[in-house]
Amino acid sequence: MKVPSRLQPLVEDGLIDDVLYPLMSGKEADIFVVRCGRDIRCAKIYKEAYKRSFKKAATYTEGRKVRNSRRARAMERGSSYGRKQQEEVWQNAEVDALYRLAAADVRVPQPYGCFDGVLLMELITDEEGDVAPRLGDVTMSAEQALEDHAVLVNYVVRMLCAGLVHGDLSEFNVLVDPQGPVIIDLPQAVDAAANNNARAMLLRDVRKVTEYYGLFAPELLDSHYGEEIWELYEEGELSPERVLTGQIEQDDTPADVDSVMLEIKAALEEEQERQERMREAELGPDAD
Ligand SMILES: Nc1ncnc2c1ncn2[C@@H]1O[C@H](COP(=O)(O)OP(=O)(O)O)[C@@H](O)[C@H]1O
Ligand SMILES: [Mg+2]
Repeated sequence: MKVPSRLQPLVEDGLIDDVLYPLMSGKEADIFVVRCGRDIRCAKIYKEAYKRSFKKAATYTEGRKVRNSRRARAMERGSSYGRKQQEEVWQNAEVDALYRLAAADVRVPQPYGCFDGVLLMELITDEEGDVAPRLGDVTMSAEQALEDHAVLVNYVVRMLCAGLVHGDLSEFNVLVDPQGPVIIDLPQAVDAAANNNARAMLLRDVRKVTEYYGLFAPELLDSHYGEEIWELYEEGELSPERVLTGQIEQDDTPADVDSVMLEIKAALEEEQERQERMREAELGPDAD
């Protein structure tokens, strides 16, 4: 096919040999299937920053570190130079997250770098080598749903242990290949320790995928994995090997009424004795 202009520089630099076909055109990116040597890969072209909502970007980028202060100031001012910088930070966030997550044993497409606003990555495929379906296009048995849900929840745990929260996890941003779920679409991943919205985002991420798997295994709908994960994280007790129950501790032990009554009685008796002692003291030893 005719090479899209945004991919032209990568073709010229020899990073891409052939553009095969367009895969998807989303809100924030256009995705093409490309050939790099003997490998079939995926090229994600980010749309211009001005097409995105900057209000949304502001919640997501909170806490993201920008070391160069000229850059930081420009971004705050929102100047056109600033916008360009902001866009680069946004794009690098996805490639950074992919490298960090691959290193943390979370299944994501293998990244091959980000050049001129184009992310090159592994194409996730099915047994036949066709593009893998999204989780939202897949139906499954209850058993499979429980198994894949557990895998995905473990990926959320591994991500958090690596300091990241996806922030837009759902059945649309998970692909399913023969080995299981693969997480995609990470430009908005947030730094868990520095972002005030991290807990809310993690709870929403877990709730969304749980609701989807819950269509096939309804017992999942009573679980509280998100809350449990965040609690362990805050207590410093989260690790990828940690066994989760999906239940959070609620204080529902029946109140022990008898022992409360005994304590009240004892307190009353003590008070009575105190008052008697005071009366005696007031009256004095030789009052009669
Ligand atoms: N590495 C990949 N392998 C296979 N398909 C992909 C890959 N990355 C993206 N896609 C397809 O392209 C769609 C859009 O990609 P995504 O990264 O979610 O961008 P957007 O911001 O547009 O949602 C995905 O839902 C998926 O179907
Ligand atoms: Mg997406």
